[in-house]
Amino acid sequence: MEIEPLHDDFGARVHGVDLTGPLSPDLVEALHVAIDEHSVLLFPDQGMSDEAQLLLTEALGEPEESHTAYGRTGEVVYVGTIGNVIDAHTKHGNADPHTIALTGNNLWHSDSSFRRVPTYVSILHAYEVPAEGGATEFVSQRSAYARLTPEKQIEIDALHVLHDYVFSRTKVAPVDDNHAASLPPIEQKLVRTNPRHGHRNYYVGSHARSIIGWSGIDSRRLIDELNEFAVRPEYRWAQQWRPGDTVIWDNRCILHRGAGYDADRYRRYMRQTRVRGSGPTLEE
Ligand code: SIN
Repeated sequence: MEIEPLHDDFGARVHGVDLTGPLSPDLVEALHVAIDEHSVLLFPDQGMSDEAQLLLTEALGEPEESHTAYGRTGEVVYVGTIGNVIDAHTKHGNADPHTIALTGNNLWHSDSSFRRVPTYVSILHAYEVPAEGGATEFVSQRSAYARLTPEKQIEIDALHVLHDYVFSRTKVAPVDDNHAASLPPIEQKLVRTNPRHGHRNYYVGSHARSIIGWSGIDSRRLIDELNEFAVRPEYRWAQQWRPGDTVIWDNRCILHRGAGYDADRYRRYMRQTRVRGSGPTLEE
């Protein structure tokens, strides 16, 4: 496994690994180590399929069912589509409610931070990508935490935050009633510690609604300050997708967002799976 760094803060392009081939225990352990170390891993030229992606997901842990399908209908779905493609000839345009709902992903977030057990890693594979736009941007809340003053770190270390999907996503589109009812606000630690190497990071993003025990205005001020500090342009790395790219990112410490694209002009077809975290953040 050859590792080439992508940004000063995080990220690595990985060569010499076929994610669709046999996933030996040594390879799986090497992937976990690389995730802990680099947070975002890019594997170019993967001959991926849904079946291979699900096998990879299962090798890394317990697959997490889509909260959207489960919340709306109770259906358990592990592989979801990111993008606007329906079939070989048809796609959703910019005005389609499906496209509009997916623009919620253009807000900085950590996947499933609103679930009691949030996502460990997301795995996203690109099949069709727009000629312009359509990047995914990443920042590290581990690096952001390390840049805080020691006084600020102490101030936030023991705080808890409510993460709320309905709070964040109704900013861009209505949330189906059943889906909303399935996702009550969830209390999370504000500061998390990586169990392998002990590095700490804060854990906010657009789903972070309020600090437990704080007034609305003070909560908003702190959450906005931490979000804005993490996502400064110089701390971002953007994945400019090519078909065949697979990216795995660590939602425990990374924020990401879609950069947007013109769905009237272009097709974007990507498939995503997620690995469930090891437990509630309050028990970490
Ligand atoms: C996501 O939020 O999981 C996908 C972001 C994107 O559309 O690039």
